Amino acid sequence: MSTPTIQRARVLIARQVFDETVERLSRHFDVHHNQADARWTQAELIQRLQGMDGLFITGGESIDARLLQACPQLRAVCSMAVGYNNIDLPACTARGVLVSNAPGVLTETTADLGFALMLAAARRISEGERFLRDGQWQRWSHDMFAGADVHGSTLGVLGMGRIGQAIARRGALGFGMRVLYHNRSRLPAEAEARLGASYVTKEALLRQADHLMLVLPYGPQSHHAIGAAELALMKPTATLTNIARGGIVDDAALAEALRERRIAAAGLDVFEGEPAVHPGLLALSNVVLTPHIGSASLPTRRAMAQLAADNLIAALGVGPQAGKPPTALNPQVLQAS
Ligand code: 8YV
Repeated sequence: MSTPTIQRARVLIARQVFDETVERLSRHFDVHHNQADARWTQAELIQRLQGMDGLFITGGESIDARLLQACPQLRAVCSMAVGYNNIDLPACTARGVLVSNAPGVLTETTADLGFALMLAAARRISEGERFLRDGQWQRWSHDMFAGADVHGSTLGVLGMGRIGQAIARRGALGFGMRVLYHNRSRLPAEAEARLGASYVTKEALLRQADHLMLVLPYGPQSHHAIGAAELALMKPTATLTNIARGGIVDDAALAEALRERRIAAAGLDVFEGEPAVHPGLLALSNVVLTPHIGSASLPTRRAMAQLAADNLIAALGVGPQAGKPPTALNPQVLQAS
């Protein structure tokens, strides 16, 4: 008599990931991966998803209603990013597809990059380096690359989630900054006291910040939250740093404001339509540009991948956390099934 074989769930990993992630998932699932990191069109992604129970994504993939309809077997989509504006969460929930993101593990690393960009913009580090590398440094002068101070200045944090709070903490404790913030909902008084942060209106934040840091999630409500009108309220000496998402800032309006020195400088890790970058920004010296590397420290990227794998394993009903993915965004779909 033949022993019945237990069908292993089938999982697709959409982009190249750490080998350890592929190996770990392969212990539980029939894994199809993309270690060659081929660029798949949406149609190819849908085609490769046929018959798959789970999908591991890195954050850039679009998980929309059309994809869900074309992949009726799909039960879980687990992302190694914290932002999930690429995923139609209501559509996933309606179809009973479990979705998870990767909050927490990247908070401090992303806050570090926010500070790095803010410091680089305020202290004109990229400009100075280009000048030096171009062989233009002949002698010292009293105001050469003289920028703005960060220590003791006013930090404005727009969006006060985990990363916003990590930024506020750095500002208050590390740099002696006065910290102002604006958020959809005000933090409890105890949290404000712990962070040394004061709640103000968005307008007051824009007017008073010496260094404005954007750390809010992207969605229809935050599209172009910073455009020409908002930039016009900022101090001409202020800097703006965006480590959140492209689309929160109107990049054309920002390029114009920077070009006309209506604000002093910017540090940008995210862009509208990235990896394309607005040509107006590329042409300016008073902006520091990085290619969406907020969470890019090796230990953090490993932790993000590990958390996404934990979620996928649990969502598909195996491992010690079976049925309880640790950072599910719609855990109700598992309770319903
Ligand atoms: C990701 C991010 O690396 O987690 C996020 O939301 O923006 C980054 O940490 C990025 O989303 C990968 O596409």
